[in-house]
Amino acid sequence: METLSEILAKARKSNGAVGHFNISNLEQLRAIMEAAKNLNAPVMIGLSEGERKFFGLKQAVALVKSFKEEYGLPVFLNPDHSHSVESAKAAFDAGFDSVHIDLSKLSFAENMKGTKEVVDYIKSRNPEISVEGELGYLPGESRIQKEAIEIKEEDLTNPEQAAEFAEKTGIDRFSGAYGNIHGISANEPRLDIERIKAIRKILPDNVAMVLHGGSGIPDEQIKEAIKAGIANIHVNTEIRVAYAEALRKFLAENPEETTPYKIMAPVLEAVREKVEEKLRLFNNH
Ligand code: 13P
Repeated sequence: METLSEILAKARKSNGAVGHFNISNLEQLRAIMEAAKNLNAPVMIGLSEGERKFFGLKQAVALVKSFKEEYGLPVFLNPDHSHSVESAKAAFDAGFDSVHIDLSKLSFAENMKGTKEVVDYIKSRNPEISVEGELGYLPGESRIQKEAIEIKEEDLTNPEQAAEFAEKTGIDRFSGAYGNIHGISANEPRLDIERIKAIRKILPDNVAMVLHGGSGIPDEQIKEAIKAGIANIHVNTEIRVAYAEALRKFLAENPEETTPYKIMAPVLEAVREKVEEKLRLFNNH
């Protein structure tokens, strides 16, 4: 099986991006895996710290492994936004096959120190595991937010700092602030494509660029971002919304239904369709 770094490099070469989708239960995981199988696409499965707490580290590892074996697809389980060195290490120790350490709220020096500690810990145990570091603050949460979120130029990631951060920490994936936010806000996001290009230009070539906050970004901007060098896109809110809307609709229309697999069937379909739509967009299908 190819490593995540090889798969990301291949995606970049072919002007595509690998999709990263968040889960907090088995139905979401199954829906994403079915979408990946239908399009024969590699995928990353992410769990934030909250999602991990609900799902269980060991359970996530065991279930993703079972789908990997059954479907024969490259699937990478990622502890999305680990906000401490300890939580990143704990996920790796439990068997996650990718790591995301996000110390972007700390100072540049502290972020670098903690990120490097995680990289050293992981690489000394398994050099093939891809580690993501983050520099630049992303506002918002993975939900529909009623307020508008404006991003100031000074909040975007500085390209020289991005390159220094990547070189000194030894990360494999870099995520930054390029006008992206988490969740869906009242105003349409506007990615700074020139900033993405500027960072891509001076980042070490073997470091893949990640776009967080993939929900709510118009398709045209996603395509531009991929062309500018983004090789990995994270989506959470849009699949959460598809899930919740399908569930509410089914329960409203079928108030007597109590069989879980009947209730969840249309929910799974809605999530699968949303993930397929994103995978097609990311890979120009
Ligand atoms: P969205 O909720 O905006 O899709 O962002 C998800 C994300 O970046 C997870 O890492």
